[in-house]
Amino acid sequence: MRNRTKLLLLTAFAIAGAACLLFRGPEGTMAAKAPEHIDSGALPMQVLFPVSEKPNPGAQGMKPVVFNHKIHEAKVQECESCHHTGDPVPCTTCHTVEGSREGNFVTLDRAMHATDIRPNKNGRTPQSCVSCHEKLYSQRKECAGCHSIVKPTHNDKWCAVCHTDIPNLTKEQFAKGAAGKLDPEVSQALAEAATAQKKPVKYTDPTKMNYRVVIDSLVDKYGPNYFNHARHIVSVERKIKDSVLAKAFHSTPEILCQTCHHHSPATTNPPKCASCHRATIDKEHPGRPTLKAAYHLQCMGCHDGMQVKRPKKQDCIGCHKLRVAEKGE
Ligand code: HEC
Ligand code: HEC
Ligand code: HEC
Ligand code: HEC
Ligand code: HEC
Ligand code: HEC
Ligand code: HEC
Ligand code: HEC
Ligand code: HEC
Repeated sequence: MRNRTKLLLLTAFAIAGAACLLFRGPEGTMAAKAPEHIDSGALPMQVLFPVSEKPNPGAQGMKPVVFNHKIHEAKVQECESCHHTGDPVPCTTCHTVEGSREGNFVTLDRAMHATDIRPNKNGRTPQSCVSCHEKLYSQRKECAGCHSIVKPTHNDKWCAVCHTDIPNLTKEQFAKGAAGKLDPEVSQALAEAATAQKKPVKYTDPTKMNYRVVIDSLVDKYGPNYFNHARHIVSVERKIKDSVLAKAFHSTPEILCQTCHHHSPATTNPPKCASCHRATIDKEHPGRPTLKAAYHLQCMGCHDGMQVKRPKKQDCIGCHKLRVAEKGE
């Protein structure tokens, strides 16, 4: 019986899949007639609750999560990337707060956040919300530059992007949600209200700061480095402006500044690199790069990740001008 249901569902997937192919065909062919999104049978958006067998879940005090199925459906090629068993049923059928036999005791927490998922050789490797997002920003060129030099802190602000305030959510609604019994229309209305309340982040305006920064704390063999500060920021912001994922998770105005100005509070007036990185190995922090290495690793780390064509790593002259010429090197 179970297998038959599965088969039927798989057939439904196959049809949906074929439809996807048609709608996503070469530009200009089918695209014009395609509906805005494929009708999967899921709600466009809904609230995901900590579903539990116990009567009083949410002991960790986490707010519920708004999930936008419509956006995901449009941006993720295959349904099975998420519905890894082939059944498009709620994840909480098998992954509850405590874990259940159907889900091989994988808890809801792991199913949503795990980033150390063992690859499944015999079939589809399940993905959590966080592991898929991590994969995206590590692979896409426009994200991978910054993300190869940034180690996400996964702090409270990060949790709050998903675990969000739901306006007017009552205790009764929460209890129903946690029992997996909230009316779908109510869930959708709550999710819409929560989404309407969110304002997209406005990054700090790069044109309002130094256009060019002179980096000269090490000047010795080479002349000062004239770093196109504002242009760098404008350029990376432009590359990511269409990503709703980036918009949602870069949640504070100064967050992009913290890519380079790291380990210090978000501010428009960050400390110099030299206030933490010394010219020679720092005895108190032997693992910390020296100042020259800090610049080189950061500049080139991002250039590599974004596949910036010029300057190449070995193109010393691309970054070091004046004295090179003076000394005739
Ligand atoms: C990418 C989105 C996302 C982020 C970021 C995220 N979570 Fe979750 N989390 C979920 C989803 C989805 C669920 C399942 C629905 C629910 O429980 O409301 C969940 C469930 C949980 C649960 C199990 C349910 C419960 O309430 O006991 C815990 C605990 C939890 N999250 C803690 C955290 C903490 C702590 C952080 C930040 C360090 C965090 N989450 C960040 C999406 C996220
Ligand atoms: C990015 C992950 C993701 C993708 C891609 C995705 N879904 Fe979902 N889907 C979910 C989540 C999460 C839920 C809500 C599960 C819950 O309530 O716990 C859901 C819910 C559903 C539901 C409602 C289940 C119910 O009984 O309430 C259906 C039907 C569904 N999806 C079908 C599809 C189809 C068809 C596709 C492909 C066109 C698809 N989904 C693509 C994550 C995804
Ligand atoms: C029909 C039951 C079922 C449903 C529905 C289901 N899962 Fe799973 N899930 C499992 C089982 C069983 C495992 C363990 C399989 C394994 O280890 O390969 C698992 C494993 C996982 C893992 C790997 C966790 C780890 O510890 O490595 C993730 C992540 C995951 N599921 C996410 C999801 C998400 C997200 C959804 C909803 C979109 C979902 N699952 C729906 C049964 C299910
Ligand atoms: C299979 C990959 C995949 C999984 C799994 C996945 N996402 Fe996403 N997510 C995406 C993609 C792709 C985007 C859009 C990317 C872009 O705009 O650059 C996105 C965008 C988002 C956004 C920003 C848009 C919005 O909805 O406001 C949020 C928030 C988000 N995801 C939350 C979640 C949560 C919560 C889960 C787990 C229930 C989840 N995602 C699971 C791929 C995934
Ligand atoms: C200019 C640099 C920069 C670019 C470009 C960039 N990011 Fe980020 N991103 C950051 C910084 C900084 C953080 C915050 C790290 C922290 O937690 O301290 C971050 C955090 C995130 C997070 C939350 C961390 C996590 O593990 O879930 C997501 C998701 C994310 N970025 C997605 C993207 C996507 C998708 C793109 C490309 C479309 C992108 N980013 C491009 C700098 C950047
Ligand atoms: C992406 C740009 C970039 C590239 C390419 C680059 N550097 Fe640098 N380098 C810097 C910056 C920025 C500094 C810090 C300048 C300062 O503080 O005076 C620096 C500092 C130095 C210094 C210490 C300052 C001095 O004048 O002695 C040396 C030596 C140096 N680089 C050698 C090299 C060599 C050799 C190459 C080629 C293999 C190279 N760099 C390629 C950006 C770059
Ligand atoms: C791509 C990397 C990068 C990003 C992103 C970045 N900066 Fe910088 N910024 C630098 C470097 C490198 C310096 C030189 C620091 C040094 O030599 O100590 C600098 C210097 C500065 C200075 C000092 C200027 C001076 O003349 O002394 C300020 C102020 C500043 N940045 C503000 C910001 C703000 C605000 C943001 C976010 C909007 C930001 N930066 C984003 C790399 C960056
Ligand atoms: C407030 C102190 C502080 C400032 C300012 C600072 N750093 Fe760092 N930096 C650190 C710490 C802490 C580490 C991690 C290593 C450690 O724990 O000692 C680190 C590590 C690094 C690394 C190694 C990779 C990594 O992320 O761990 C690079 C590269 C680097 N810094 C470059 C820079 C550059 C370039 C600047 C200026 C734009 C800068 N740092 C400003 C404290 C700082
Ligand atoms: C966050 C990623 C990132 C970091 C960090 C970064 N760059 Fe760049 N850089 C870029 C991108 C992207 C381009 C291509 C610019 C464009 O397409 O407009 C570029 C281009 C350049 C260029 C050629 C164009 C120009 O502006 O003259 C130079 C020189 C350069 N970078 C120097 C540096 C130096 C020096 C550092 C370190 C102090 C650095 N970059 C750090 C992303 C980065």
